[in-house]
Amino acid sequence: MDAREMKVKAAEAALAHVEDGMRLGIGTGSTAEEFVRLLAEKVHGGLRIQGVPTSERTARLCLELGVPLKSLDELPELDLTIDGADELDADLTLVKGGGGALLREKIVAAASSRMIVIADATKLVETLGAFPLPIEINPFGQTSTRIAVEKAASRLGLSGEMKLRRAGDELFMTDGGHYILDASFGRIPDAEALSGELNFIPGVVEHGLFIHMASFAIIAGEAGARTLKA
Ligand code: 5RP
Repeated sequence: MDAREMKVKAAEAALAHVEDGMRLGIGTGSTAEEFVRLLAEKVHGGLRIQGVPTSERTARLCLELGVPLKSLDELPELDLTIDGADELDADLTLVKGGGGALLREKIVAAASSRMIVIADATKLVETLGAFPLPIEINPFGQTSTRIAVEKAASRLGLSGEMKLRRAGDELFMTDGGHYILDASFGRIPDAEALSGELNFIPGVVEHGLFIHMASFAIIAGEAGARTLKA
């Protein structure tokens, strides 16, 4: 099974948790897009859901495929969000934001009664941090913010390269008009401590550590999809 087939398997298993009438948060990324494709087939078969997309990219795909959408202000409380992750550990702490949508993803997940993470088995790790942590920052004072992030990380014994994400010749800009600082710490042994430090920095809009947000994960590997609970 290749990576795409695993993503489809995880998305299929997640679809089984979607019920008629649900208000659904819809994630961003290649795994979430497999879910959107399967969801669209169900919608055309008569399933009634109202979706809230976590990015403009997801919104475009949903509109193209005929998945009905609302804004989060129209549907401020959601039943379920289904989203991918860049990394997750056995406690269901996630690193997200590889697709640059972490702020809306976190707001939507926080507005949902439940969040299901869908991922291929390569995303499940013992210790988070091999994937650079995306940190969404305000463009104003970005150098000061980067220094503050470095100092905060160093208080926890963490260091590593921090790069402003680029999109071709330009700096990558999120849907909210912010930059992404990708922090290569290598390992994040205490995600809660790092999250607390980052939350204190005014220029940090949000970061990609999702803690105690996922209800469970569906992990797809060679042997099929399995459910992982914390
Ligand atoms: C986007 C995300 C995605 O969920 C994450 O990057 C995983 O993407 P993919 O399914 O393409 O591996 O957090 O901001």
